Amino acid sequence: MFRHFRSLLVAGGLLIVALSWLTVVPSKAKDETDPVQKTETKVKPGIKKLAIKAFMHKKLASSQEILEGLAMEDFDLIEKGAKQLKVMSLAAEFMVVDDPLYPHHADQFRRTVAKIEKAAEEQRLDGATLGFVEMTMSCVECHKFVRTIMIAK
Ligand code: HEC
Repeated sequence: MFRHFRSLLVAGGLLIVALSWLTVVPSKAKDETDPVQKTETKVKPGIKKLAIKAFMHKKLASSQEILEGLAMEDFDLIEKGAKQLKVMSLAAEFMVVDDPLYPHHADQFRRTVAKIEKAAEEQRLDGATLGFVEMTMSCVECHKFVRTIMIAK
């Protein structure tokens, strides 16, 4: 009886995971293409969260471009990734956490991105690599911070 109950629980859990995946994936793709959807982000928390997720994944893609550029000594690619991140870090989706310390983390992130961009312009591979390491740390630091305030709330 107990075993039966357990497997039922597991099946239920799997179903929930599958369902949330099914609902998240298509609407995420829509978020990226549909500008009307974006304007709604301020009113609907669910949609807002999806927009943030899509946004953060774009950030991840740009940082991977930088890494590729570093590995291949392709300064144009490094600069391109850094420029994308710079623009993104000014977007509204980046300033989503309502906490007085959040802008500090965002500023720190922008500084590291500027460092990468400048080093790429000056064709300094080591400088760009160092900037990338600092940027990665700033991603992690901000996420740690965001997690603590989310737990607190
Ligand atoms: C200034 C703060 C800040 C910085 C810096 C930052 N992020 Fe985020 N990131 C966030 C917030 C806020 C969320 C959303 C957390 C949530 O709502 O669960 C997030 C979530 C994410 C997610 C998860 C999205 C999902 O599917 O849930 C990824 C991936 C991500 N960020 C990538 C990055 C990368 C890569 C960097 C560095 C290049 C970075 N972030 C830097 C604030 C930041």
